[in-house]
Amino acid sequence: MPTAQNGTTENKVLSLIGRPIPRVDGPLKVSGTATYTSDHNFPGMLYAVPVPSTIAKGSIATLDTSAAEKMPGVRAVFHRDNIGRFFRVPPNADFSIVIDEHRPPLEDDIIRYYGQYVAVAIAESLEQAQAAADAVRVTYHEETPDVRTKLVAQDEPKVDSQRGDPVAAFNSAPVKIDQTYVTPAETHNPIELHATVAVWDGTAFTLYESTQAVKNQQLAMSAMLGVPTENVRVISRFLGSGFGGKLWPWTHCLLAAAASRNLNRPVKLVVSRKMMFQAVGHRPLTQQRIRLGATTNGELVSIQHDSLNHSSILDDYDEGCSEATPHLYHCPHLRATNGVMHLNVGTPTSMRGPGAVPGLFALESAMDELAVELKIDPVELRLRNDTQIDESLNLPFTSRHLKECLTVGAEKFGWHQRTPAVGSMKKDGLILGWGMAAATWIANRLDCEATIDLKADGSVRVACGTQDIGTGTYTMLAQIVGESLGIDPDKIEVVLGDTALPTGPLSGGSMVTASLVPAVLEAAKTAIQKVQFAATTATPFSGQSADDLAFSNGRIHRKDQAPANGVPYEQVLQTANINSVSGTGRSQGDFTDLLGLSKPKLSSHSFGAQFVEVSWQPEIARLRVSRVVTAIDAGRIINPRTGRNQIEGAVVMGVGMALFEHTIYDDQNRGAPINSNLADYVVSTNADAPEIDVIFLDYPDTHLNALGARGIGEIGLAGVAPAIASAVYHATGVRVRELPIRIEDLIA
Ligand code: MOS
Repeated sequence: MPTAQNGTTENKVLSLIGRPIPRVDGPLKVSGTATYTSDHNFPGMLYAVPVPSTIAKGSIATLDTSAAEKMPGVRAVFHRDNIGRFFRVPPNADFSIVIDEHRPPLEDDIIRYYGQYVAVAIAESLEQAQAAADAVRVTYHEETPDVRTKLVAQDEPKVDSQRGDPVAAFNSAPVKIDQTYVTPAETHNPIELHATVAVWDGTAFTLYESTQAVKNQQLAMSAMLGVPTENVRVISRFLGSGFGGKLWPWTHCLLAAAASRNLNRPVKLVVSRKMMFQAVGHRPLTQQRIRLGATTNGELVSIQHDSLNHSSILDDYDEGCSEATPHLYHCPHLRATNGVMHLNVGTPTSMRGPGAVPGLFALESAMDELAVELKIDPVELRLRNDTQIDESLNLPFTSRHLKECLTVGAEKFGWHQRTPAVGSMKKDGLILGWGMAAATWIANRLDCEATIDLKADGSVRVACGTQDIGTGTYTMLAQIVGESLGIDPDKIEVVLGDTALPTGPLSGGSMVTASLVPAVLEAAKTAIQKVQFAATTATPFSGQSADDLAFSNGRIHRKDQAPANGVPYEQVLQTANINSVSGTGRSQGDFTDLLGLSKPKLSSHSFGAQFVEVSWQPEIARLRVSRVVTAIDAGRIINPRTGRNQIEGAVVMGVGMALFEHTIYDDQNRGAPINSNLADYVVSTNADAPEIDVIFLDYPDTHLNALGARGIGEIGLAGVAPAIASAVYHATGVRVRELPIRIEDLIA
């Protein structure tokens, strides 16, 4: 990095930042030796299988565990009367502990959603525990659940953003769009199932958890289990993805921990794929009314975005569909609201790009409808409404290149060849549809602490209590540390995913990379100062002032001499008889108004533009997303290889969102999510994946951190579904406002 960012280093410029190095944890993963949560096994370990309710509303009448308890290998069947006490952590205003489902498991006998745990069977083997769970007899006082799909606000909707007089401006606007858009409940389906392996040693817990946030998990578990924080250690070395579903603790974690404490044995609990649809969160159903008022030139004069989402009976989950709406375009009059309807479903949670992703389906679909109405090219419509000011906060953006995303993406896609009439583009006997949408996602930073050890054997260890959820955090850290020390990433050991390490950020909201950079740079600087100081006590620098020494490319040398005239730092440590020096860096988050707790100084967001081609074969009703060009403005890209992988994965997920994904809660089946398996809940596969061209603009956002890196986990999904829906309209003339787009919608 340039010297200005770290006064003590004079390394080769930018040799590692921006280099597409392969994942440093790749060999572990492809050889099957990376240890995921459920790979942990301990002597004497027991297996836990929860008993889920088979109704969605009512109460437990009788619960009979007698047969189950007598079965071979069964050590216990826990239920409300014998599991022991859990403590409820109420929603806390400062978000010091985040839990989406606040009710501890087995707290009462009331059933509020299908799959709510009513007991848990513990046995010597998984098969024995499963058999025992099946043998628990439960009867219910059953009531009719409410799992409706047409939402009505139950309380006064919350105003998320407001400026000007949007109603008057809409009423007097010469051109109006007023439509309602629906996105369905979607279920996270990471390959790795949720899992907890709980080990109680009589005083303290070690919890191996499939979590995106070890620190929050530790705080929540200690509070709910009633043990001091220092007596709970949470470990999550590798995650088979989370997509937001593993951000916050779920009730099964407490069942496993309590069982381990009650029986004084390690306990493993792996949630089944079916249960993944019930009690570990989902993206809620949203219903969003968009009203756009515009001039005949296509200038927006009013935006009203009124959204509703379902939540569970117990919790107020606000999807926040207007996350992107207030800042995406120039528009003098705007109002965005959100309301909640409580249904007999499990508590919803964050799913990749929560709020913005469903919100942009509505807003960007409406923008396409406006473009059609005005006969203005949809790219041109966005360009005409661009802004350099976040008008919701009246603050400048740190770095916004939406215009360039639109123009560069359009150029790469070949957008100028598009003919606007429906069904007018054909190729190889297929009708082509071309659609596009703008994208945005918040860029932010959380508190972070990291430690770098320079060791006498020439190796480097960097440790941070954040976690790699499959996005490439191990690799990115090796690159940043390597760059800051001028040392080969091969020599750097990255240690993550453990509350015993310095506290790092949660892996959510695309914030890890931006949060790590300042802490790691400071840790490197501190470690370098310590090794320079050590050098003053050893040959060949003894007696010299640390101020006269420099550290370049892993070598200590006199500032007035070339690095080649110095010595490797490990030689200094060996001569000084020091095993290692350790530097710690701390950085504060709170850069912008993430939680609405403080006044932001600047507005920081990532931007993007999605261009989509679909092919439509009306004779056999075959629809395919054939080609996507995605132009992303997400600051400096530390590693274009892992970065591209994030965006490609998000685009494939967007195809699933647009065409397939839909959790069906069926009131004919007691409110159960009936498609709770990977045969009936369809996600995109390789066969559905389009040709994807990822463009990174790569403008450093140096307000966010010295390297200018933002995050890229979520921006790639934003805008994909509305671009597909608009392409489908262009091909077929059918405007689908309710996802997923079904073949039946297109052949009416
Ligand atoms: Mo992401 S939905 O913030 O894990």
